[in-house]
Amino acid sequence: MKVLVTGAKGQLASDLISFLRENDIEIIPYGKDTLDITLLNEAIQISKRAKPHIIINCAAYTDVDGCETHKDLAYKVNAMGAKNMAISARKVECKLVHISTDYVFDGNRGFKHPWDKEHRIPEPYMEWDSPNPQSIYGHSKWVGETLVREQCPNHFIIRTAWLYGASGQNFVKTILGKSKSPQRDEPVYIVDDQFGTPTWTRDLARQILKLMVTETFGTYHATSQGFCTWYEFAQEIIKVSGMNLEIVSCTTEDYPTKARRPKNSVLDNWMLRCQGLDFMPDWRQSFHKFWDKHGTHLEGLTR
Ligand SMILES: NC(=O)c1ccc[n+]([C@@H]2O[C@H](COP(=O)([O-])OP(=O)(O)OC[C@H]3O[C@@H](n4cnc5c(N)ncnc54)[C@H](OP(=O)(O)O)[C@@H]3O)[C@@H](O)[C@H]2O)c1
Repeated sequence: MKVLVTGAKGQLASDLISFLRENDIEIIPYGKDTLDITLLNEAIQISKRAKPHIIINCAAYTDVDGCETHKDLAYKVNAMGAKNMAISARKVECKLVHISTDYVFDGNRGFKHPWDKEHRIPEPYMEWDSPNPQSIYGHSKWVGETLVREQCPNHFIIRTAWLYGASGQNFVKTILGKSKSPQRDEPVYIVDDQFGTPTWTRDLARQILKLMVTETFGTYHATSQGFCTWYEFAQEIIKVSGMNLEIVSCTTEDYPTKARRPKNSVLDNWMLRCQGLDFMPDWRQSFHKFWDKHGTHLEGLTR
C-alpha cells in the first residue's frame, strides 16, 4: 500500500509516517517545501505522479491565535488546501484521510450534572452535532471539512484534539519548558475551565491505520478516552516528569487570548465505537507510555 502524506514535517505527520513505515506501508512524504497544498495544479500533478492508494492530509495552519491575524492564510491552507487535496484524491481515485479539530464546536455544551460543582463531567460532542466554530482557525477547518465532503466521496474526516507528540511544539513541551523560564520562581497560571482530551499522536496514527484500510467513509471523532482541563493535564505532566514547577489554576477570563477557545470540546468517538473500530486508550495511561518512550529525551527541556 502506498500513502502520500502532506504536511510531512508536522507534529502528527512525523509520528504517523514512522508508525506506518513500521507497519510496512510505503510512504511518500511531502512537506510544505515540496507540496504547498494551496496550489491545486501542483497537488494534482504530484498526486498523479505518486499514484497513492491513500492521501493523508496532515497539512494545516495550526497557530490558533495566528489565524485571527492572518485570516486569508487560515482559509487558504485549512479550507482551500483541504479542497485541493480532495480534488487530487478524486482525480487519482484514491481515498482521502483529512484531519480536523474539536475547535469546530463552540464548547457551550456544559456538564452532565450541572448541579455537581465538584465532579465536573462534560457532555461530549457527537459526530452529528452541529459545528459552531468560535475562532477563525475553527471556522477555516470547518469550511475545509465541508469542501472535502463536496469534492471527494471516499473521505475519512477525523476530528481530533489536544495533540502532543515527540516532534513539534505542544502543551507538554510548553509546560516542561516553563521550569527554564527566567520567571521560574513565579507561579504559572493555567486555565482550569476548558475541558478536552489530550491525545498522543502515535495513538492517533494507529487509529488512522485501523480506519483507513476500511471503506467506511465519513466523519469520525478520534481522541483518547476520558477528559481533563489544561490545569489537570499540567498537573499530570508535572507528576510524571517529576519536575519542580508551581502551577495555579485560573479561568479563561483571567487568561485572555486572541482566539476564543471552546470551554468544553470533549468528543465522543461514537462512530468508531459503534463499528468496533475505536482503539483509542485512556489519556492518562497514554501519557505515561509517551513519557516512558520519550521522557529521557524531553527531560532535557527542564534543565
Ligand atoms: N495540534 C493539535 O492540538 C491539534 C488538535 C486538533 C486537530 N489538529 C489537526 O491535526 C492536524 C495536524 O496538526 P499538527 O499538530 O501536526 O500541526 P503542525 O505540527 O502545525 O503540522 C502542520 C504542518 O503543515 C504544514 N503546512 C502549513 N501550511 C502548509 C501548506 N500550505 N502546504 C503544505 N503544508 C503546510 C506546516 O508547515 P510549517 O510549520 O512550516 O508552516 C506543518 O509542518 C491539523 O489538521 C490540525 O488542524 C491538531
